[in-house]
Amino acid sequence: TNLPQVHSYPTNDKLSLGLAEYVLNAQAAAFSRHPKFRIAVSGGSLPSILASPALIDNPSIQWSKWEIFFADERAVPLDHPDSNYGLLKSILLDKIPQKSGMPKVFPIDELLLDDTQELADAYEQTLIQSFAAKDSVKLPIFDLILLGCGSDGHTCSLFPGHELLREDIAWVAPIEDSPKPPPRRITLTLPVVTHAIRVVFVAVGAGKKEILKTIFEKPEEGLPCSLVNMAAGGDKVVWFTDDAAIQGVTG
Ligand code: 6PG
Repeated sequence: TNLPQVHSYPTNDKLSLGLAEYVLNAQAAAFSRHPKFRIAVSGGSLPSILASPALIDNPSIQWSKWEIFFADERAVPLDHPDSNYGLLKSILLDKIPQKSGMPKVFPIDELLLDDTQELADAYEQTLIQSFAAKDSVKLPIFDLILLGCGSDGHTCSLFPGHELLREDIAWVAPIEDSPKPPPRRITLTLPVVTHAIRVVFVAVGAGKKEILKTIFEKPEEGLPCSLVNMAAGGDKVVWFTDDAAIQGVTG
């Protein structure tokens, strides 16, 4: 069958190196299609693993051609400690050397925080402006989506058993009952994730071992990460893990 690739490393530093190399390849592949590199990133531990010197100081990264969107975002002000934008800014964006040019970054609209449906709709409009009108394309096609995997098997803000997993029209959806705090968020929907050219999961630490076993060995349980693995197919999904997270996992 069409299993996703798994790259496993003994340490986070080695994982970061492997990930930087992968991102560089994805950038080159994107430039062969269009003069931009359009990615989406999640929060959690991902930004810190992504933001290694191997990526940030890499002279081959053409930051000014990057467009960075959020795979999910919490409905909080951009300077709030829970903001995924704030996290990415402090960990990565602020460290990009000025002379390399800056990526175009697309945060949520802070004026719409009171209404998560409006917040999601506005973010969908932001995607539409970059990817083409929704009536001309069925779904946006990201060059790369970089995701984490929660210890319950969630990814983006798509949680196990949640009705949001069945959303098949919206590109961006609100959620008011996220089991991981804070509860009010917006997220890319499953079809958007599985339509990307490439999807990367990053999962590190022994705390992820049990859930990785379920994701890989019992895909029929339908955990959100398994749904991405299955719907996207093995040639576009790559897992970057450390040895502790993947040890003993078969499938
Ligand atoms: C969020 C994240 C979320 C995260 C996972 C994994 O905003 O909460 O985007 O989807 O990626 O919860 O988080 P860790 O990598 O920290 O385990």
